[in-house]
Order: sequence, then structure tokens, then C-alpha cells
Amino acid sequence: MSTTILLTGGAGYIGSHTLIALHEAGYQPVILDNFSNSHPAVLERLERITGQPVRVERGDVLETPWVEAVLRRHQPVGVVHFAGDKAVGESVANPLKYFHNNIGGAVSLLRAMAAVHADGTAPAAPTLVFSSSATVYGDPASVPITEDFPRSHTNPYGHSKLVIEDMLTALRTASPVWRVGVLRYFNPVGAHPSGLIGEDPADIPNNLMPYVTQVAVGQRPYLNVYGNDYPTPDGTGVRDYIHVQDLAAGHVAALQALLGGSESFTVNLGTGHGHSVLEVVKAFEAASGRPVPYAFAPRRAGDVAQCYADAALAKRLLGWEARHTLHEMCADAWRWQSGNPNGYRG
Ligand code: WQD
Repeated sequence: MSTTILLTGGAGYIGSHTLIALHEAGYQPVILDNFSNSHPAVLERLERITGQPVRVERGDVLETPWVEAVLRRHQPVGVVHFAGDKAVGESVANPLKYFHNNIGGAVSLLRAMAAVHADGTAPAAPTLVFSSSATVYGDPASVPITEDFPRSHTNPYGHSKLVIEDMLTALRTASPVWRVGVLRYFNPVGAHPSGLIGEDPADIPNNLMPYVTQVAVGQRPYLNVYGNDYPTPDGTGVRDYIHVQDLAAGHVAALQALLGGSESFTVNLGTGHGHSVLEVVKAFEAASGRPVPYAFAPRRAGDVAQCYADAALAKRLLGWEARHTLHEMCADAWRWQSGNPNGYRG
């Protein structure tokens, strides 16, 4: 039986780490990526880690006929859909980019998958793992968050994820043969322990951890802490930071469950614990031995005070739980950044 898995956006931060986890679990991953938000240098790093050539299809998931051709060529037993844009602030300024790329990209992929399954080219049931986000919970009424919490959106990025989740529900109603795993990520951080791959924002980092690592490595003078008057223990925002290696393992567990015949599911991928901005800064200084100077700044529009997962369902359905500590997240992020001060750009 084929063990090929197609990773759309597989050259990106989460995708590249998932590729390694899939390889180690005995699958044969294939990357589909237009490299609009990832650097081709990651491929050589992946080959060094896996010891094998990486199969890559360079193109845009929006090109449905091409995606169909890729599916026929590789005959994957499952698809993990990472491809999409993910900057909250950018989505507010440029909503059409997000609706086009994220929602349009998902429609294109699903239509291509449906086409190859309709003509019998792909024998098994169409199997998809979708990279969703805790952003679909909007500003939660309480924490920890369970999967049955109401969904809402506070920005076009989160809106696009919510719409794609609804599309998948409608597709499964129309065609129950589809097997779908929706994974709602909380805050992915860290890097592969080799230090060869990691998070490499194209511009000024939006997210906390890559900004912290760039301060520690000397690329930025200090960190702006957005708000210290939230109703949290130290007044700064609290989030559920999850090691990217745990996230990658969650994708393998999701695929194994679906390919093993499980029902479709939606699960949170988080640790179940929240950490404040100042706790992350302190943990990073301890792990790296580097100071991270910071200054308090006004709250950032769209931010919520607290957001962390109840991760019990993923444990029950997939036998998965996050295992890495905040210290390990910081240590692995630092190893990547200190060894690659300019990311993949050398
Ligand atoms: C975390 C905390 C900030 C930067 C977003 C998306 C989510 C996911 C992860 C894609 C908050 C504070 C941050 C900085 C700061 N992305 N902060 N100074 O906003 O929780 O989630 O990224 O899937 O979908 O919504 O992550 O890392 O931007 O912020 O003080 O320079 O760090 O206020 O409290 P966020 P983040």
C-alpha cells in the first residue's frame, strides 16, 4: 500500500517539521509549495536530516488542474493542507489576499482531490488533515478552551480558517466517504533539535518567539511587550505555546488515526498550560543565557488576554499529548536562531 503523503505548504515552518516526523514514522512525504513564504534552502536541510532526497512539486495550490496532476502522479494516501497565509495583522490590511489564498486554495485542493477520487484514480477514501488555528475561538469567554467552544473571528485570517472548517463540514455531509482531521494549533514555537530548520519569518516577526530570538541574537534592540494591564497574573498576555515537534507528532497521529479508519475529528493541539509574555522572556533568557531587554507598549489590536487549550480530546482520540517543556521550546528555538542568525538566507 502507498505510504505517500502530500504536504501542501510543506516547505514552511510547521510543514518542514511535519515532513521529518512523517519520514521517521515510515511515510513518504511529498512537498507541494510555491515558496511564497518559505525558502528553498530548507530542502537541503531536510535532506541532511532525513538522509534522503526530498520530493518537491513547485507550484500554486490555486492551480487546480496542476494539483490534480500532482495527485495522480504521486497517488498520496493522505494530504496535509498547510498552504496559506497566516499573519493576523496583514490579514486586516489585506483581507482579499487571505480570502483568495486561504479559502480559494482550500477549494482548489478539495476539488482536485474530489476529481481524482471520482474517476477511481485514487483507490482509498479522500483523507485530509487541515491546519486550523485557535484563532477560530476568537476571544474565549473562559480558559482552558475545549473544541465545543463557540467559534468567532476577530480578523480575516481567523475568518478564513473558520470558513474552511465549515467547508469541510459541508463536504463531509455531502460526501461521507471523506476522512478529515481538523487540527486547531495554539502557539507553535521552537525548532527541530538539530538546529538545522526552524521558524524563519520573511519580515519583522509578528509572533513573540521569533521576535525574542532576534533580540537575543542581536538583530533587534529590544522586545515590545504589548500590554501589561491584562487581567492575568503579571498583566501580560497568556498563550498556550506548543513545541513544533509536538505539533508535528500530532499530525502523524492524526493521519494514522484517519488511515486506520477513525471517524473525522476536530481537536486542539496545545499543551493545556498558559504562559505569559514575561514568563516566556524569563524562560528564554534562562535557556539561551542571553538577555532579552524589553519595554512595555500599548496593547496590540485584536489580542486577547488569555488563550490556552484543553488538550484532553486529542489525547483521547489520537493518543497524543504535548511532551516538550517551555525550557525545551526556548532552547531549541535558540539553537536554530543562534546557528542561523539570518535564517535560511545565510
Ligand atoms: C503571543 C503573545 C502578544 C509579539 C497568532 C495567531 C495564531 C497563530 C500564532 C498562526 C500575545 C505578545 C507578541 C511581540 C508581544 N498563528 N507579543 N510582543 O497573537 O497569540 O497568535 O500567532 O496560526 O493563529 O493569532 O501569537 O506570538 O503574535 O503573540 O508582547 O512582539 O505575545 O501580545 O500576548 P498570537 P503572538
